[in-house]
Amino acid sequence: MKSILFSAAIAAMSLTAAPVIANEAAMAARHGEMRLLAHSLGVLGGMAKGQIEYDKLRAEVAADTLVAVTSIDQSMLWPEGTETGTMEGSSAKPEIWGDKADFTAKWEDLHKAAQTMKTAAGEGQQAIGAAMGDVGGACSACHKVYRVSKN
Ligand code: HEC
Repeated sequence: MKSILFSAAIAAMSLTAAPVIANEAAMAARHGEMRLLAHSLGVLGGMAKGQIEYDKLRAEVAADTLVAVTSIDQSMLWPEGTETGTMEGSSAKPEIWGDKADFTAKWEDLHKAAQTMKTAAGEGQQAIGAAMGDVGGACSACHKVYRVSKN
């Protein structure tokens, strides 16, 4: 009897715990992709400013990473219940779930800017600088609306 109750308690616990764990995994995954974007953008930004010496291969790897990350389908990474205030560590504003189409469109905008950067990366420091505005602009266009500012 005791063990039946115990199993029932475990089963009930895992029923409630499973979605929470899945949500935390989704949040960790999207934080990871954002950090990959920031890392690559940092390399390209450094080259544009002349703080990092231009290196064609390195620039192309960074731009390829931007293209690859923005090719990832976002539909599994933003489950409901992972907004700021509900999930610890989340800076995702609830507005994301109010307008998923706009959120996805802003991700697409970044993908397009990343493709332009991919071409620029092979051309040199000046071309990277010229392509920087659209990439950085696409990051902040989304952050402005959908990410809690930490300032
Ligand atoms: C379509 C929207 C969107 C775009 C485009 C976007 N981000 Fe984000 N970003 C977010 C949201 C929303 C969060 C908060 C996510 C959370 O806390 O769960 C975030 C969080 C981050 C974080 C913090 C990650 C962490 O570990 O807390 C970094 C860094 C970041 N973004 C960098 C970038 C960079 C760099 C770009 C452009 C190259 C970019 N993002 C483009 C929506 C976007």
